[in-house]
Amino acid sequence: MVDEIKEVIVAEALAGMKRTHLCGTLREEQIGEEITVMGWVAKSRNLGSLYFVDVRDYTGILQVVFDHDTEPELFERANLLKSEYVIGVTGTLRQRSSINDQLPTGRVELAVSQLKILSESEVPPIYIRDDDTVQEAIRLKNRTLDLRKPRMQEILRTRSEMYKVTRDYFYDQGFVEVETPILSKPTPEGARDYLVPSRPHPGSFYALPQSPQLMKQLLMCSGFDRYIQIARCFRDEDLRFNRQPEFTQIDMELSFVEEEDIIALNEGYLKQLFKAIKGMELETPFPRITYRESMDRFGVDKPDVRFGMELRDLSDIVADIDFNVFKGALSSGGSVRGIAVPGGASHYSRKKLDKLTDFAKTYKAKGLIWIKVNEDGFQSSVSKFVTDEKFQEMATAMDAQVGDLILVVADRNSVVYAALGNLRNHIAKELQMYDPSVVAPLWITEFPLFEYDEEEERYVAMHHPFTAPMDEDLDLLDSTPEVCRAKAYDIVINGDEMGGGSIRIHDPKIQAKMFKALGLGAEEAQDKFGFLLEAFKYGAPPHGGLAYGFDRLCMLLTEEENMRQVIAFPKTQSASDPLTGAPIPLAQEQLEEVHIQVLEEEEVNE
Ligand code: AMO
Ligand code: AMP
Repeated sequence: MVDEIKEVIVAEALAGMKRTHLCGTLREEQIGEEITVMGWVAKSRNLGSLYFVDVRDYTGILQVVFDHDTEPELFERANLLKSEYVIGVTGTLRQRSSINDQLPTGRVELAVSQLKILSESEVPPIYIRDDDTVQEAIRLKNRTLDLRKPRMQEILRTRSEMYKVTRDYFYDQGFVEVETPILSKPTPEGARDYLVPSRPHPGSFYALPQSPQLMKQLLMCSGFDRYIQIARCFRDEDLRFNRQPEFTQIDMELSFVEEEDIIALNEGYLKQLFKAIKGMELETPFPRITYRESMDRFGVDKPDVRFGMELRDLSDIVADIDFNVFKGALSSGGSVRGIAVPGGASHYSRKKLDKLTDFAKTYKAKGLIWIKVNEDGFQSSVSKFVTDEKFQEMATAMDAQVGDLILVVADRNSVVYAALGNLRNHIAKELQMYDPSVVAPLWITEFPLFEYDEEEERYVAMHHPFTAPMDEDLDLLDSTPEVCRAKAYDIVINGDEMGGGSIRIHDPKIQAKMFKALGLGAEEAQDKFGFLLEAFKYGAPPHGGLAYGFDRLCMLLTEEENMRQVIAFPKTQSASDPLTGAPIPLAQEQLEEVHIQVLEEEEVNE
């Protein structure tokens, strides 16, 4: 009997059955109607003469009922159903006897008169439930099933809505969408390239684009005026919670514009996006601060401005204290700065202070000085070296109150900023110093044109080599390029860089100076970027642009803390894909075809 039915199961096709409604949409208004829904068996339970099945599609769940007394044959077949079977059911919608107001469809149920078993399922390796706590690696390996979860459906549908809002906005603003190549030449975004060997050109490689930067500048030279692309980018870099090797940018470039135009256009975009997706009104214009101010106040160039606890410079106050930690930092051109943690004195025990010190050390700080402003005076790790008068001066400079904790780092400026800036974020999170539902955007402007790369021991372009210097600083490009500021801007929201861009150089003479400042010879520049320099010869319009990290925007709008949650098929921290198993070793034959010989690990190290 069961075998007979099994055969029927395998054979069952839709054969004319048409879906009339989506499961999650049915309400009391449809009671009495004949309805057909299709979906997956989420749950089933046998209550003697009644068999209940929760059918799930992307809109939600509907309870359907098989009644032994009225439909004995159907009842028998329903008993064969198991989790994740795919079925189609027709029946009449009726009031549910036990109302479940937790469920949007909880007041109705479908009394089934026809059942088609469209597909069977083995026992699924993960539960299709949002509260399932299985390891992420197992979720990613079983991503097809994982994506059936209501939350994952919701996230990816929000993401899709974001594409639409984005296209609508920019198309309305006269932008044209152009696809740029994936098989390309290295782009200067500073990460390592993903390389693709060429079969017809032995020993030659394409690079996957780190961004469409050069192509979009060419499009401006071609007269497209306003370009937009939702572009896939590839960067072989160290991965973190908000970085993927393969990610998406909303990439734009505009002609005949200055910074103000790009900033205003993008404030309009973000306003529309947050309104459409979250019903949230962002106030424009967004605040703006310069890179210098951002570093001095927050220690980082992507500040979270939802809370205070800003950095203060204590160098002048401590200059005459005979303590080699201060003296050492100041005499070598560094500084002594601090933050005051409101109410931190009682919260941070010795043990917790040691933890903060370890945290500061991960940013290369040599230590962390702490000063508790207690009712009865100061308590500190440096009481031996610092008088109460000096502690008082420091506390006054920090606006610290009784009960606060002052944390101080003395070092090279870059270390002081990094340690305190990150401590500031860390502590604010730990002490829940802000409302996580607040969205606080701001622009960071006037970035330095160059930054010193300690590994390479030379100056590199902070944004990229096509970013224009500020008009006021143009003369510095020859004499002291390291202090030159750029027409570059980042959009930062809640402590994360959402996007960045710049006005570009469109004058080949300035571009040549830029390459010179970067130590790039004319020949090398020609070799790497000749095609762009060539385009500049024949009339380049003034232009500039910006690119958002789309996945980051998506994290923000869905309130997810892990980028893998907002990407359908993401990579792990080690850039692999547990679902397909990529990357994989290739067969010798395939390697030979593309002229590749793989070295053993030892040979590489030689
Ligand atoms: P940039 O390198 O700043 O600029 O990149 C723009 C934005 O892309 C996002 N992003 C990433 N998101 C996920 N994973 C990654 N690995 C990753 N790397 C970057 C960030 C970043 O702000 N061509 C220039 C833009 C321009 O000048 O117009 C560019 O790519 O949110
Ligand atoms: P020490 O004299 O080395 O025991 O240091 C006294 C205190 O100063 C300890 O709390 C250290 O963590 C701290 N400290 C040492 N070097 C630095 C530094 N460069 N910046 C801030 N604190 C430091």
